Amino acid sequence: MHGFVNPPVVHASTVLFESTEAMKKRQSLPYTYGLRGTPTTKALEEALSELEGAHDTILVPSGLAAITIPLLAFLGAGDHLLVVDSVYTPTRTFCNGTLKRMGVEIEYFDPHVGAGIAELMKPNTKVVFLEAPGSNTFEVMDVRAVCDAAHAGGAVTMLDNTWATPLYFRPLEHGVDLSIHALTKYPGGHSDVMMGSVSANEATIKRLRDTQMQIGVNAAPDDVYLVLRGLKTMGVRLERHQASALELAGWLESRDDVAEVRHPALFSFFDHELYDRQFSGSSGLFSFLLPGGFDQAAAFLDALRLIGLGYSWGGHESLAVAVDLSDRTICKGPGNGTFIRLQVGLEDVPDLKADLEGGFAAASAARG
Ligand SMILES: Cc1ncc(COP(=O)(O)O)c(C=O)c1O
Repeated sequence: MHGFVNPPVVHASTVLFESTEAMKKRQSLPYTYGLRGTPTTKALEEALSELEGAHDTILVPSGLAAITIPLLAFLGAGDHLLVVDSVYTPTRTFCNGTLKRMGVEIEYFDPHVGAGIAELMKPNTKVVFLEAPGSNTFEVMDVRAVCDAAHAGGAVTMLDNTWATPLYFRPLEHGVDLSIHALTKYPGGHSDVMMGSVSANEATIKRLRDTQMQIGVNAAPDDVYLVLRGLKTMGVRLERHQASALELAGWLESRDDVAEVRHPALFSFFDHELYDRQFSGSSGLFSFLLPGGFDQAAAFLDALRLIGLGYSWGGHESLAVAVDLSDRTICKGPGNGTFIRLQVGLEDVPDLKADLEGGFAAASAARG
């Protein structure tokens, strides 16, 4: 507008109408009330829809809300929901808590199920929920095979695409109906904003948008501005996250004090072929198995100085956490160590290696 490179940040609840006639015909107007959207939210929705190849996109205040709102939109009492077992833990907590209380039957499936999902489909299966790669354990699924079988059974498919971002994976091209993002991670990119998005195809957008409005959530204008700003550098940041994470993953794999590295882009990874066939790049999040008990893992983590201890990822700074797989029914750990999840930030790799060396020395000392 007026030649400015960026859209205006519109703070709004009220939108004024020219007449009662215009109020009556408000469904055809682009803006009617702050909750429904503003030129600021529309700019981000359009950018994400283009990146995802989607019909339209909704914005919500967190990545977790981008998971719960589509599930609420497409499920009701008496329905059956299939969820991949390697799902982000709060997704499982929502399913086992709120959805179960609503009367939804929940079943977890193996990420390697492929077309075999057809055998799990029931006449009342309404949603198949995917995440690829899986949280913390990084299994990669055959998205097309699962979606085709889900659609044949009449279910809607949703995928949490936060890890790859639409730059490295476009779920709608693989049969997914709704692509979910924690914009908090790479699109925001600076650990200072929380937001989520759901990009939908033409068949699912109306029900999704109606549910968003019935629940009454959208994203705040200053936060949307931060994500719009982050999105412009996401491509170059991701290249750096990708290169640094791959270098560290290879380095960790060569060490005797690491039992296993789970990074989909490593040739040695058990799902590398599935990753290579579907994804055009990898991001900065992966995990490795540190032998020993939790005491060794705690000693490793507590010795880190540059790398912070924290649960999020996708920001400029590196983070580490000990992975808890106690909620899993299928994708459990091998049991001979603790998975450490690394979020590789934008720091220099030699500095990160030196910090990790300190962690390994502390873990070794704790082993005695
Ligand atoms: C895979 C995945 N999806 C969704 C989320 C939720 O995002 P938010 O923290 O914005 O609620 C996270 C957060 O860690 C995540 O790891």
